Amino acid sequence: MQLTSQDIDEVCGLVLDLCGVSLDETKAYLIELRLRELVRRTGCESYAALIQQARLTSERKLKQEIIDAITTQETSFFRDNTPFEALRNKALPELFEAKEKTPFPKRVRIWSAGCSTGQEPYSIAMTLCELLPDIARWDIQILATDISETAIAQASRGCYADREVDRGLPAELLHRHFIRDGSQWRVGDRVRSLVTFRRHNLHDSFLALGEFEIVFCRNVAIYFTLEAQKQLFLRIADAMTPPSSLFIGSSESLINLGDRFEPQYHCGSVFYRPNVPRPATV
Ligand SMILES: C[S@@+](CC[C@H](N)C(=O)[O-])C[C@H]1O[C@@H](n2cnc3c(N)ncnc32)[C@H](O)[C@@H]1O
Repeated sequence: MQLTSQDIDEVCGLVLDLCGVSLDETKAYLIELRLRELVRRTGCESYAALIQQARLTSERKLKQEIIDAITTQETSFFRDNTPFEALRNKALPELFEAKEKTPFPKRVRIWSAGCSTGQEPYSIAMTLCELLPDIARWDIQILATDISETAIAQASRGCYADREVDRGLPAELLHRHFIRDGSQWRVGDRVRSLVTFRRHNLHDSFLALGEFEIVFCRNVAIYFTLEAQKQLFLRIADAMTPPSSLFIGSSESLINLGDRFEPQYHCGSVFYRPNVPRPATV
């Protein structure tokens, strides 16, 4: 079925409304590829008709299927590697040291925002397990959220095929933290127990999520408009308690946020510390 310019406008409008992902006619091939099967299955006469149906129905199912189909869930264990080196060698040791003087020195809250199928939060959990031999005595929670229900369901199962663990996961970590389960690898209980998964749209309020000392929001905002990216990172800064660290994707930037974040260069990577916002001048 041929995609018309009206189809493209309708799809882009709904996708922007639902998840803030910004598409345009240059992504026509992607829209066609990812929504073709849904158009066929729902018996709609066109892509615009599918969008109309999704807008009119009060049920969430069709909207969710469109989100699942259109969002890019590309991810891998220890993606880009250097951010995890900086986490292990700089951000976490400095956090632990700063926490020694607080009433809850062993309490750590981490957020993997836009976690896709779970490789990112499990990589963070493995980093913590490797760093802390006494991790059972710590109160550590990694909240992992994504707008895609299918991604969250898969992440929560914690089962990966050979080709998924072959991407970025060192053999010794695979054998230490995963169990062979038929043709798959299942995340071991210790790593799994550190991570809580939840469906959440980054354009919704963060209030119910809590506050975090480490946030990973990598390769998610890149799909949003520049203004939506800016608002997202400012809201994330408000959800962080010092001393805190924000990790973003290697092709993302906080350059248009002025001095709200301070870059920290370590291990060939960069992460960001939120600065206290300046009081408004009168
Ligand atoms: C490319 S993956 C990145 C996964 C991981 N952070 C990484 O860097 O490997 C982007 C993820 O962002 C999610 N996403 C897109 N829009 C979102 C939104 N508005 N709220 C929450 N998650 C969103 C997608 O479902 C997808 O799983």
